[in-house]
Amino acid sequence: MRIGVFDSGIGGLTVLKELITKYPGNEYIYFGDTLNVPYGTKSKEELLLLSDKIIKFLISQKVELIIIACGTISSNIYEEIKDKYDVKIIDILSPTINYLNKNNYHKVGIMATPMTAKSLFFEKRIKGAISIGCPKLVPLIESGKINSVETDEAINEYLTKLKGADIIVLGCTHYPVLIPIIQKYSTIPLINMGKCLVDTLNVNNLSTLQIKLYFSKLTPEIITNVTNIIKENKEIIERKL
Ligand code: DGL
Repeated sequence: MRIGVFDSGIGGLTVLKELITKYPGNEYIYFGDTLNVPYGTKSKEELLLLSDKIIKFLISQKVELIIIACGTISSNIYEEIKDKYDVKIIDILSPTINYLNKNNYHKVGIMATPMTAKSLFFEKRIKGAISIGCPKLVPLIESGKINSVETDEAINEYLTKLKGADIIVLGCTHYPVLIPIIQKYSTIPLINMGKCLVDTLNVNNLSTLQIKLYFSKLTPEIITNVTNIIKENKEIIERKL
């Protein structure tokens, strides 16, 4: 099966990584909009315009399924786009919501982008949910500054706001790359939304693994960041939206 996956930048690769691990018998076409990252502070109108271009590109690549590997698009505009195109489109948040609703947590902390936090997506669906916007994290991750004092300080700032949570959702697909750093400062269990997705997704697994990764801007740093997340053989291609 040919599956399209997209995000604002390299974050959605954490979802692609889970997909490849569970379903290696597929062709994956990824689009990361590294030219326009971050999405977490963009308006709904901007998100609609950008996702429309990406979805049309993925459809032109003959994908049979599109996975929105972006919490910001899923929380803000999924309802508007899910039935708009001639291809099945699934969001990244629903499997996590379903998982949380099956378990009885008192306080669910959500680290997310400002737009996801503002949408109150989790608060409307989960009892005891508290979302906080973490605007510093995506720029640090995209610029390859994961191991830096700034990242440690930002993580501590956000963890302080979620004191007493039973569980923390990494509500932006960029954040799983920070798991080792978050775990230096907190023992609260973390939810990786990509893992929740593959736990419930059912797709064919019949062809050989093929990975094509498109980015709207490519630099040597981006290529290094991409290769740190996706180790398998892949083509990395620059393509303007
Ligand atoms: N990784 C995306 C998300 O899950 C987008 C983050 C951003 O570009 O701000 O929200």
